[in-house]
Amino acid sequence: MNKQQTTNTSATLRLRSGQALSAGNKQPTTNTSASLSAGNQQPTTNNKQQNLLITGGAGFIGSNFTHYYGQHHPGNKVVVLDALTYAGNKANLAGLESPENFLFVKGDICDRPLVEKLLAEEEIDVIAHFAAESHVDRSILGPDAFIRTNVVGTFTLLEAFRQHWQEQGKPEDYRFLHVSTDEVFGSLGPEDPQFTETTPYAPNSPYSASKAGSDHLVRAYFHTYGLPTLITNCSNNYGPYHFPEKLIPLMCINILLGKPLPVYGDGENVRDWLYVGDHCAALDVVIEKGKVGETYNIGGNNEVKNIDLVRMLCTLMDELAPQLPVSPAEKLITFVKDRPGHDRRYGIDASKIQRELGWSPSQTVESGLRSTIEWYLQHRDWWGPLLSQEYKAYYEEMYNRR
Ligand code: NAD
Ligand code: TYD
Repeated sequence: MNKQQTTNTSATLRLRSGQALSAGNKQPTTNTSASLSAGNQQPTTNNKQQNLLITGGAGFIGSNFTHYYGQHHPGNKVVVLDALTYAGNKANLAGLESPENFLFVKGDICDRPLVEKLLAEEEIDVIAHFAAESHVDRSILGPDAFIRTNVVGTFTLLEAFRQHWQEQGKPEDYRFLHVSTDEVFGSLGPEDPQFTETTPYAPNSPYSASKAGSDHLVRAYFHTYGLPTLITNCSNNYGPYHFPEKLIPLMCINILLGKPLPVYGDGENVRDWLYVGDHCAALDVVIEKGKVGETYNIGGNNEVKNIDLVRMLCTLMDELAPQLPVSPAEKLITFVKDRPGHDRRYGIDASKIQRELGWSPSQTVESGLRSTIEWYLQHRDWWGPLLSQEYKAYYEEMYNRR
C-alpha cells in the first residue's frame, strides 16, 4: 500500500501536499449556506466541521458525491477509502488531490484493522458508505464478490464504527449513511404502486439480495445498539464517471463507436432514472437532516422503458455528436437474449424525502441525458482507457454469446 496515501500513526493528518493539519482541530466551517435549490440543493444547516469517510469514493456515485461534498462543505475533511476494483478509478477524483483536507486511501472495507485505524486517526464522525459490487449482470456471472463486499464489507464497517462510536462516548452527531438501491424491493407490475419505505423486501438478483442483506444489518445495528444509521434506497443513476458496463454509458459509447446497441429481451422493462447530481444533493441532506434509524427512498420521478430510453439516447446523439459512424444511431439497436431473472419494473415514491427533508430532483430525464451525453463527448480521454482488455473480455462473455 502506498504510504503517502495511507494513514499515519499520530493524531496528525498527513496531507498529500506534505503539509500537516491537526486532526483534532475541528473548526466550525464557514458553511452557513442557506440554500441550494434542487440539483444543487438543500439548505445546509450544520455548521460544525465533519470528518467524513467516503467508502467507494473512486466509483461512479461515490466520486460524484466526493466532488459534491467538497464543493458544498469546503471546510470539512474527507477521507476516501476505495479498493480500486475494476469499477474504481483514481481519475474520477481528479482535481481533489491537493486540497489540504482530502485524503485518498487505497484499501478494502473488509480490512477491519485498516478501517479501525482510519476511524481513529482521522477522527471520523460520519461514514458515507458507497463501496459495493454494483452490476447485476456481473452478480449473475460471479456472485461471490457481491457477498464479500456488500454483506461482509458492510458488516465490517458497522462493527468498526460501532466500536469507534462507543469509544468516543456515543456522540449524538455521528452518522453511518448506507447508500442502497431500490432493487431490494424486487419487481413491480405495470399497474403496481411505486416502492415506498415500507414496501417489503423481495430481491431477485444476487446483487439486490446482497444489498438487501446489508440493509438489514444496518437496520439491526440501529435497533440493537442504537448506532446512528441512515439508509437510502435510490433508483438508477446516470451522469459523469459512469463505468461503461451500465446501460446509459454503454449505449453512448457504442453509438460513438458504431457498435450494436444490445437491448435485453423485449426492451419493455422500466427503470426510474435519477441524475447523479440530484442523488448527491439528496444524500447530503439526509446526512444533515435525516432522522437516525430511518430509511429514505430517492428517485427521479422518471420511469422510462428501456427501449424508449435507448431511442432517446440515439436521437440526442444524432443531434449532439458530430459525424457518427452509423447514422441515424437507431439503426444500431439490436434485441438480444434477456437477462436471467430480469426485474420488469422499478418505480420509486420519493414523497417522504420531499416532505420531510425538502429534497426533490432538479433534472428531467431529457435534461439529464443531454448533459450526460455532452460530458461523454468531452471526455473521451476518461472513457477510452476503460475499454481495456479486462473490459473487452467482460463484454465478450456478456454479449458475444447472446
Ligand atoms: P461503482 O461500481 O461505480 O463503484 C463502487 C466503488 O466501490 C468502486 O470505486 C470500487 O473500487 C469500490 N469497491 C468495491 N469493492 C470494494 C471493497 N471491498 N473495498 C473498498 N472499495 C470497494 O458503484 P456505484 O454505481 O457508484 O454505486 C455506489 C453505491 O450506490 C453502491 O452501494 C450501489 O449499490 C448504490 N446504488 C447504485 C445505483 C446506481 O444506479 N449505480 C443506484 C442505487 C444505489
Ligand atoms: P443497468 O444499467 O445494468 O442497471 P440495473 O440492472 O441495475 O437496472 O440496466 C438498466 C436496464 O437496462 C436493465 O433493465 C437492463 C437493461 N440493459 C440492456 O437492455 N442492455 C444492456 O446492455 C445493459 C447493460 C442493460
